Amino acid sequence: MYLFGEHAVVYGEPAVPCAIERRATVTVAERGDDRQRVSAADLTLDGFTVEYGAGDDAPDVDVPTPLVEAAMGYVDEAMATARDAADRPDAGLDVTIESDIPLGAGLGSSAAVVVAAIDAAARELGVDLAPEAVAERAYEVEKAVQSGEASRADTFCSAMGGAVRVEGSDCRTLATPDLPFVVGYDGTSHDTGELVAGVRALREEYDFARDTVSSIGDLVRRGEDALREGDVAELGRLMDVNHGLLAALGVSARSLDEMVWAAREGGAAGAKLTGAGGGGCIVALDDGTGAETALSLTPACDESFRAELATEGVRAE
Ligand code: MEV
Repeated sequence: MYLFGEHAVVYGEPAVPCAIERRATVTVAERGDDRQRVSAADLTLDGFTVEYGAGDDAPDVDVPTPLVEAAMGYVDEAMATARDAADRPDAGLDVTIESDIPLGAGLGSSAAVVVAAIDAAARELGVDLAPEAVAERAYEVEKAVQSGEASRADTFCSAMGGAVRVEGSDCRTLATPDLPFVVGYDGTSHDTGELVAGVRALREEYDFARDTVSSIGDLVRRGEDALREGDVAELGRLMDVNHGLLAALGVSARSLDEMVWAAREGGAAGAKLTGAGGGGCIVALDDGTGAETALSLTPACDESFRAELATEGVRAE
């Protein structure tokens, strides 16, 4: 989940994502043949199972939604990079995915699944990758699936845990106090690739959009100071501005604006959309219970919950 800097990070500005205690669990078992079988449950979709192997034209999917296709793209690439890491190009794998992170909603679900899948598959094939190596491979997977449009932010954050700072290829972990995160989810999902392409087009057409992207970078640098000082009031103010700048880039939505305003009116120090936008989640900072209550009473909000910072990234269970 992004405290600051989504979208602008794609153009080399810094971003600060934070890992929260919602996890994707991926179990991988080697098969006796060269086929791959993927089952997923709880991806806030009906569960699905796909089985296919080399030479099949298309997988046989019981729930053919664009979200499932997108998820399959990520899993396929993750298995390919794990086989490559283990130098086992023909290894057949059974993959089971469970996740309590809604898909395509701005909480980094694809990064969490990809990171866990690479780690589990490489381990099954006999290679223990360091979290940094998993992060780098996961970034390459996201980039391939999102047609070259991805930053290292989500994948590095998922692999390392805690709060991180990403600027281009410079990725670091940050010492961070536990912040009082509240998440509001409108129950919908977005297409990250499309939203990123929309910002790119706006930025190519208008100087103001280019300036907006660099203003987000300035704001993130101020946010890092506030984070270091644990200044929740200042973090909140900057989150409000970050939301406004993202809205100027065309990536907010009525439901996201409604949830942001509900959280603010409920007493949050600040609130913003998180991730690619277009629908999905907002994040607010609130020490009390007001923002969560206000969100739960907002028709646009399907689910609201407090989110703890997850200090641990990818792990074997
Ligand atoms: C999407 O989770 C975050 C974006 O900044 C894209 C990216 O960083 O890859 C919109």
